[in-house]
Amino acid sequence: MSEPVLLVDEPAKGVRRLRLNRPQARNALSMELRRALVEAITQASHDAQVRVVILAGNEQAFAAGADIKDMANASTVDMMGRGVLELWRATASCTKPVVAAVRGYALGGGCELALLSDLIIASDTARFGQPEIRIGIIPGGGGTQRLVAAIGKHRAMKYLLTGTTFTGREAFEMGLASEAVPDDQVEVRALAIASEIAALSPLAVQQLKDVVLRGMDLPLDAGQALETKALHLLFSTADQKEGMAAFIEKRAPRFTGQ
Ligand code: CAA
Repeated sequence: MSEPVLLVDEPAKGVRRLRLNRPQARNALSMELRRALVEAITQASHDAQVRVVILAGNEQAFAAGADIKDMANASTVDMMGRGVLELWRATASCTKPVVAAVRGYALGGGCELALLSDLIIASDTARFGQPEIRIGIIPGGGGTQRLVAAIGKHRAMKYLLTGTTFTGREAFEMGLASEAVPDDQVEVRALAIASEIAALSPLAVQQLKDVVLRGMDLPLDAGQALETKALHLLFSTADQKEGMAAFIEKRAPRFTGQ
């Protein structure tokens, strides 16, 4: 039997890790892998035991983009029938924080997968980029939008229009990666930060993610109003009472998600 294209495990309490597993194709995003990813992300969103999701690849590649062999001979109608936009939307709408642990290549759809994550822990030597222009197409997973938002129009245009790549260290310096660390520390660090978030109030964490993501598409005033409503909502949770009581009593809080 062949290996599953997506490996799922729980390396720590509350942390679900999804590991892309097509090493022979540098983790290129075949339709099978995209669908497996959506299914696993949807499950994680609905599972109260899961507090944080880690997306990982292997030493050589986080993901080298859409599967070129799978689409080389596709027609417009074939491409329309694949519903890839819906799959990207489903991946991006995970209600739990998503941490991308990026080693090796994160190109095309692989870079876009990292971009739609909430945190990116990058290897200093990872290679990010949107090389689609070099094969006669353009990005299709939000790269033209999210890369611009992450690093600004003029830097993004350079990478989008030439297809040249940049390192994980450069990604961090440009504000795209949350952290850049030595290659052998990527997964260790991703797990540490995921575990740290998993120990917090899941209600506050989810509200925070929701407000940040929705706010990115809103005018400042509307985003701030959303923030205020979410803040006020959290005052009806036991976790807010516990968090503040623990501070006052100088002890560690015990969040229950209630
Ligand atoms: N799709 C399909 N197969 C891929 C692939 C991809 N995106 N990337 C790598 N592979 C395959 C190679 O064809 C090769 O297969 P064979 O052994 O059968 O020949 C195997 O993975 C190993 O690849 P390389 O020999 O090329 O390995 P390398 O280490 O020398 O280079 C690489 C790695 C720089 C990632 C190079 O493979 C590469 O440039 N890949 C393509 C990157 C790319 O253009 N991505 C954008 C795709 S389009 C997209 O993502 C946009 C969209 O949504 C529409």
